[in-house]
Amino acid sequence: MTGPYIISASILSADFRCLGEHIKTAEAAGIDWVHIDVMDGHFVPNLTMGPFIVKACDQITERPLDVHLMVERPEHFVEAFAQAGADNLTVHVEACPNLHHVLQTIRQLKCKAGVSLNPGTPALLIEPVLHLVDFVLVMSVNPGASGQVFLPEVLPKAAQIRHMLDEVNPTAMIEMDGGLNSETIPLALHAGVQVFVAAHAIFDHPQGIKAGVQALKACFPV
Ligand code: DX5
Ligand code: ZN
Repeated sequence: MTGPYIISASILSADFRCLGEHIKTAEAAGIDWVHIDVMDGHFVPNLTMGPFIVKACDQITERPLDVHLMVERPEHFVEAFAQAGADNLTVHVEACPNLHHVLQTIRQLKCKAGVSLNPGTPALLIEPVLHLVDFVLVMSVNPGASGQVFLPEVLPKAAQIRHMLDEVNPTAMIEMDGGLNSETIPLALHAGVQVFVAAHAIFDHPQGIKAGVQALKACFPV
């Protein structure tokens, strides 16, 4: 981590024909974490990656692997992802009937625990577990695909969660995911976000991955 703000590069927009090269380029450009979007075709209408991709990424990079589980019943999978090399495991409140238990399990597996909520989900639903998390992942698009348009209506919710965390778990961070770029990151910063996930803005940048990372980092106060 290079400072108090973290860029978590989502490989969902990387070219999988040269995944290793893309991750290495992003790493050299200064990303902090590698974000891996796991989708099960049930919780979200898309299928993506499993533990074997996490294992491959673990062999490519030294950066923490930030695994975002957009899956139903994530308790069935957290151990496999931890064994594959995940450093952070984030589960969705909407997908977890036993949220408290799965967050405890993630920590027992020696991973950092995150809870995520979709744009339509109120902050109060995660209040009972805020003492159990290392970060809260606020979705700023509806999960399922990269390259979507940022939803500014989630900003007051991020600020509300920051206030809630300050009461019970002040070192926990707010992470935001979806539609982040050099125009929307300043809005997220203002709401108290510390961790910024980006796929399209990094891997599809017209001047290349390095320029994409630099443009995002230029948003951070010095
Ligand atoms: C969306 C994923 C995001 C996505 C972000 O369901 O959770 O991590 O890859 O993509 P961009 O930055 O392109 O919105
Ligand atoms: Zn994600």
